[in-house]
Amino acid sequence: MNVLLIGGGGREHAIAWKLAQSKNLSKLYIAPGNAGTGKCGKNIPISGTNTKKLVDFGKQNNIGLVIVGPEDPLAAGAVDAFEAAGIKAFGPSAGAAQLEADKAFAKQLMRSTSISTAEGRIFERFDDAKTYIASRDEALVVKAAGLAKGKGVFVCDDPSDGILAAEKIMCDKIFGSAGEKVIVEDKLLGEEVSILAFVDSRNIYVMESSQDHKPIGDGDSGPNTGGMGAYSPAPVVNEEAMDKITREILVPVVDGMNRNGTPYKGILYAGLMITAGGPRVLEFNVRFGDPETQPILMRLKSDLLEVCLAVCDGTLDKVSLEWDQRPAVCIVVASGGYPGGYEKGKKITGLQDAESIDNVVVFHAGTAVKNGDIITNGGRVLGVTALGQTIADAKKTAYEAVDKIKFDGAYCRRDIADKAIK
Ligand code: AMP
Ligand code: GLY
Repeated sequence: MNVLLIGGGGREHAIAWKLAQSKNLSKLYIAPGNAGTGKCGKNIPISGTNTKKLVDFGKQNNIGLVIVGPEDPLAAGAVDAFEAAGIKAFGPSAGAAQLEADKAFAKQLMRSTSISTAEGRIFERFDDAKTYIASRDEALVVKAAGLAKGKGVFVCDDPSDGILAAEKIMCDKIFGSAGEKVIVEDKLLGEEVSILAFVDSRNIYVMESSQDHKPIGDGDSGPNTGGMGAYSPAPVVNEEAMDKITREILVPVVDGMNRNGTPYKGILYAGLMITAGGPRVLEFNVRFGDPETQPILMRLKSDLLEVCLAVCDGTLDKVSLEWDQRPAVCIVVASGGYPGGYEKGKKITGLQDAESIDNVVVFHAGTAVKNGDIITNGGRVLGVTALGQTIADAKKTAYEAVDKIKFDGAYCRRDIADKAIK
């Protein structure tokens, strides 16, 4: 079967790497891909959001399955467009993708299905948000309701910071129309975890747990990023917590989405805070997490293509997945300056040395090929991922590989997975 994968980040390299191992794969195309995906299949120079061109490409190239990596094309209706053209597509419809693309929609769904989340209010006018925030004296979180590349959330320890955040989002419009609505919610305390599941609108298959590291700096300091590293499994969720998360969060979402007339298929990603009172939802995403996918897929032993097809065909209950019991750790190497401004086009060296270490895969994110060299082409550049006997062991190997890679301005956190090792 020919597969078209949409996207060009670290998540897509991990998906492409895993798909390339499938016995049922004929040709793999990635749009637009990066220097890493180019080694797993053929990159095609079509933007991931140019749905019309991608559908034409799908028809002309006998594509049997499309896998949509990022949230933007999902929210814009990529899956609906491929299905209308008679091509199977992995991911939710635009209606179901609102679960991520509109945090107000997600909040309302959680309310109506009694899913545990932070107490929150939704505002469409800055003055109303300001009055509410000023009336509060606890720490709170201000979020743009729309898609903001993981950067639309401000955790504010004091109301004056909260008002500033609402002003930036609603008046200065730093996230454009994604900031037309704002959610103001209580700050939750605890450890974060990402739970990803395959969903075929009836059946749910929960994957191994993982934990992301959102802030740019060691010790979770500084502004949030798309994610600076991840490990899997996350010891903070034991089997009992996993059962509770499935019963009290994932199942009600899938049921609620069916009742809403927006049945859910694809990846359901619950970003959770494990609080003293149990797991509570921070957000839902409608696609694989980035960088969580890198360690998760390195641990998946089963055929990813088969599972994705089962999701599209509604036969997820017929597949069983096997996992490598060894943990995996992924360290993101970013361009200096990220998540603010950064330069592109820096030559990357040492990739082969890093990959020659046993149990290491270097997943590319913002990379490109220029005159035979691999150069930086984005904020998050690489996701250096290693398996190990323990998390500490995987961490040590991953950093050993990171230290072989050089480019001008390269930056990474040095404390990825420390929470799990403590
Ligand atoms: P979100 O995109 O909603 O997951 O938010 C991004 C990050 O902001 C999360 O991964 C958390 O680190 C943080 N965050 C979001 N909501 C809350 C909350 N209610 N309490 C504490 N931290 C939060
Ligand atoms: N790693 C967080 C995300 O994919 O949204």
